[in-house]
Amino acid sequence: MPFYHKLGTIPHKRHIQFRKPDGSLYYEQLFGTIGFDGMYTNSYHEQRPTQVKEIKKQYSVAPKIAVENNIKSYRLKGFQIKPEQDYLESRKTVLINSDCAIVLAAPLELTQNYFYKNTDADELLFVHKGSGKLRTMLGNLDFKYGDYLLIPRGIIYKIDFDTEENRLFIVESHRPIYTPKRYRNWFGQLLEHAPFCERDIRKPETLETHNEKGGFLIKVKKQGDIIEMVYATHPFDVVGYDGYNYPYAFSIHDFEPITGRIHQPPPVHQTFETDAFVVCSFVPRLYDYHPQSIPAPYNHSNIDSDEVLYYVDGDFMSRNDVEAGHISLHPAGIPHGPHPGATERSIGKTKTDELAVMVDTFKPLKLTEEAMKIADEDYYKSWLE
Ligand SMILES: [Fe+2]
Repeated sequence: MPFYHKLGTIPHKRHIQFRKPDGSLYYEQLFGTIGFDGMYTNSYHEQRPTQVKEIKKQYSVAPKIAVENNIKSYRLKGFQIKPEQDYLESRKTVLINSDCAIVLAAPLELTQNYFYKNTDADELLFVHKGSGKLRTMLGNLDFKYGDYLLIPRGIIYKIDFDTEENRLFIVESHRPIYTPKRYRNWFGQLLEHAPFCERDIRKPETLETHNEKGGFLIKVKKQGDIIEMVYATHPFDVVGYDGYNYPYAFSIHDFEPITGRIHQPPPVHQTFETDAFVVCSFVPRLYDYHPQSIPAPYNHSNIDSDEVLYYVDGDFMSRNDVEAGHISLHPAGIPHGPHPGATERSIGKTKTDELAVMVDTFKPLKLTEEAMKIADEDYYKSWLE
């Protein structure tokens, strides 16, 4: 996150002696990105964070690709993904390219007896159903319906649900996920025209510090594999940290929509950016107010990006047949637009209650076998009169 945060106890300067009450040293860890050029955090640990005790096993969780080269529009019925007990096993990758993976999950319970770390990708979790607590080595965040949770790569975490019905829409990104640059001034502060500001971003405010030795299982994701590593010390043993690289939460309900006299293009909905895809939030808003405005979007060609819409709530004005939990995939290379009748139906309407998350990728997406299990194969014909 491009602003400074400090939690717990830290010494006056970086890289100097920082002693425990018994006189021994705390162990400093620089947690940085993009070599030494990106955002970083300096954290202070009770134990050395390097103590690998055992590597138990390694196995692939890479998704099986069903459709490699795609030009067909699809609808995926996301709520048909079956709930599963385990958090990691419940995660089903449905769309993927070399930059990102789009994952649906319906976990029934918390990450019980292990910790998890994704070393390859920043994880953006959108909470569609459920509530609980994200617990990380850099502090905890309470979450509920409508929250985006951004977990930078390398953060060790657990996720505790206090609900049984949980639905997550997840983007794993090999590119760092940032707030859009055009929303920030040259100091990094969010500008007046941005649809959210620093007050809307929830940073970790409580730190869990366990000074424990034993065997602690961390499931580490790297290059499509899970490696089960046992560490000799508790991964949540940080007494303090400061810096820019930490997990945070942002509620879609705090996104302030930008509206106009005529139809506004998708970038007004942008929430996050990478150099490989964008994430946008479509939220309840007033419609365009030109006397002859057409609130439904115009037909458009994604010449060079695949468009993924995840429907969260409300009535989606441009479609006749979408429900909460559905994903539409409109691939690059062909135009798409409102369903027959949706344009006419939108005229005269003054507001919408729709809630949706959009991911537009610059490289084409492949469909996985998990996607084909929940795919509507005839959706591509749904614009026929
Ligand atoms: Fe579109």
